[in-house]
Amino acid sequence: MTQTQKIIIDTDPGQDDAVAILLALASPELDVLAVTAVAGNVPLVLTHTNARKICELAGRRDVPVYAGCDRPLARDLVTAEYIHGVSGLDGISLPEPQMPLSEGDGVDVIINHVMNEPAGTVSLCVLGPLTNIATALRRAPQIADRVKQIVLMGGAYFEVGNVTPAAEFNIYVDPEAAQAVFQSGIRIVVLPLDVTHKALTTPARVARFREMAGGAENRARLGRGQPSIGEVVASWIDFFERFDVEKYGAEGAPLHDPCVIAYLLAPELFKGREVNVEIEVDSPLTRGMTVADWWRVTGREANALFLRDVDADAFFDLLVTRIGRL
Ligand code: BDR
Ligand code: CA
Repeated sequence: MTQTQKIIIDTDPGQDDAVAILLALASPELDVLAVTAVAGNVPLVLTHTNARKICELAGRRDVPVYAGCDRPLARDLVTAEYIHGVSGLDGISLPEPQMPLSEGDGVDVIINHVMNEPAGTVSLCVLGPLTNIATALRRAPQIADRVKQIVLMGGAYFEVGNVTPAAEFNIYVDPEAAQAVFQSGIRIVVLPLDVTHKALTTPARVARFREMAGGAENRARLGRGQPSIGEVVASWIDFFERFDVEKYGAEGAPLHDPCVIAYLLAPELFKGREVNVEIEVDSPLTRGMTVADWWRVTGREANALFLRDVDADAFFDLLVTRIGRL
């Protein structure tokens, strides 16, 4: 039997973050120690509220949700309501969460778990700007030797940028944090736009969510006449897809953040290279660019596994099968 992996989900939900969290909570191989919210797609008060709504949707009030940093290390917060809606989770609206925000600072929670669990056992799954992780590294640099790995959605090489011509949103929002993380020496696995732009929410794939009945418990949890989890997921995808379909002219939108969790569950679905990645922090033109030495032309030491390909059909099979169990 494969051992359970201990993870902390650091996130700024976000509909695609929400699908990622559902996938993790539906997967017995993953032990979700905590969800730590960060400001990103929307301000912190909304990301931690959304995180709790998602845990409740999954029937998992036992998973503690903490608030982390409310702004980037050195810059004003840039948000993305134009993609995710004013709530960050527009689509079928979910009830206000009953579960309280857990007490304590999300950054300290990351540090404490990493220091208290056996060294090399906790993976940090980062679905938003890297502010919480960089702050944890500043506050407690000793965690760098104990984190198993950081698996993050962010950056791009071949696909270049989505928020500017040069940068992907999560890295653009807090490039100084990203730089600190990429220089930390921790093992890093990057799920960039090069992967996520291949994980497209085609109409046939969204239909599979919409038709997903969900378990008996899930129907009982949501109440008679209420939408199923599959319908909620489909409504989230429909909401943010409208933006990307127009933008990319593709048949669907990239489902970014669930790729992080899917990598933990089924790394064989992804392909990439160990390369050096540096973050541009100075140039106003290319702020937040992930300069990945894909062709190994610099001689700089590799500091990340930078993924480029995904088996998209198998990825969606995994999502539908797992979330259908909730
Ligand atoms: C990333 O930015 C956010 O809008 C998404 O949630 C994802 O984490 C994609 O660039
Ligand atoms: Ca996100």
